[in-house]
Formats: sequence, structure tokens, C-alpha cells
Amino acid sequence: MKNIGILLSGRGSNFEAIARSIATGDVPARIAVVISNRRDAAGLARAQARGLDARFIPSQGKTREAFDRDVIAALEACKVDYVCLAGFMRVLGSCFVQKFSGRILNIHPSLLPAFPGIDAQKQALESGVKFTGCTVHLVDEGIDTGPIVCQAVVPVLESDTVESLSARILEQEHRIYSEALKLLVEGRIEVDGRRVKIKETVTSDE
Ligand code: GRF
Repeated sequence: MKNIGILLSGRGSNFEAIARSIATGDVPARIAVVISNRRDAAGLARAQARGLDARFIPSQGKTREAFDRDVIAALEACKVDYVCLAGFMRVLGSCFVQKFSGRILNIHPSLLPAFPGIDAQKQALESGVKFTGCTVHLVDEGIDTGPIVCQAVVPVLESDTVESLSARILEQEHRIYSEALKLLVEGRIEVDGRRVKIKETVTSDE
């Protein structure tokens, strides 16, 4: 059984969705640790309520390298195989990305490469696109730039506000994050340049 580490900074609804998929057996893995860089993150309380190892590792007042080192140490101590960024509002340094190369997933609320960075739903509304969505991608050293694993399309309605659009995107986020994680832990993701190919057969030793 592969060990997952979750990094979050806020609400934690994607973490919850992953935890549910694991609990139902849809994703063959276990959550070894949930780490937040914010003490007041609702996601941290949700993790505690589930009886998980939930840790606050402060980022404030630390260099990126020092914070990354602390997080890497915690993940290694918990024997984490794969890392899921779930609303984690810090950019990871190259040392972190290299240590877990090909083993870090992130979820972003747009159809990347459109609208990277913050306020992706607002960017989509303001740009006038008729469709947006969400993306789960492997993390590389850029911001929202890594190879794309799964995407879901969400139509933009004329009546949409940032809130209503975000809510419909979030439903899809919860669905595709677990899908992508399942592919990753089953060893079915093959990266070919920027393209991700999904292997048909399960090759992990689970
Ligand atoms: C999600 O919209 C995710 O795409 C983005 O941050 C938000 C986190 O939401 N990266 P939650 O904390 O998982 O509820």
C-alpha cells in the first residue's frame, strides 16, 4: 500500500475527497500525513477529525529552503511515496520537486495552460471563455506548468459569478483528483516529454 502525504493551506475539500476515495477502496493507498503551513487551516482540523497524523509546519519567517527541508523531513519520516498538493498556497523549491520527482500531484481550477496562478476562476470569467474547468498535473519547477494527468471541462454560464463558477469547478476537482491519484499509485502514468500517457495494465506490485 502506497503512502500519501497531503499538503494544504486552507479549506481542505480536495483532501476530503481524496480521503473518501481511499476509505471506499477506490484509491488503493493510505494517507500517512497531512501537513499545513497554516495553523488555522480548516483542512488540518478535518484531518484531525479523521484521526490522521495532522501537522502544522510554519512557513512564516522561514526561507523557502528551510521550510521545504522541514516538510521533506516530515514526509520522509512518514515514509511518504506520493505527495498531493490540495490547496497548498506555497511554491515548492527545486530541491523538493527533485526529491519527489514524478510523484507530486497538484490540482488547479482551470484548463491549464490557460489561467495559471491565483484567481483562475476570476481570470476565466474576465477573459470571456465559454468553457473552463480543472486540471490535475504532475508538479515540476514552474507554477502550474507540469505534465497534465486529468482535466474536466465546465461550461461558463452567462449568470455565473466567481462563486458559482468556482463551486461547479470544485465538484469536478473532487472527482478528477481521486482519478489521477489512482492512476499514479497504480503506476499507470508514463511521462513522455510534456505528454502523459496512461498505461492500460496495472503494473504496480500492489
Ligand atoms: C481548489 O480550487 C484548488 O483547485 C486550488 O485551491 C482550491 C483548494 O480548495 N488549488 P480546497 O482547500 O481543496 O477546498
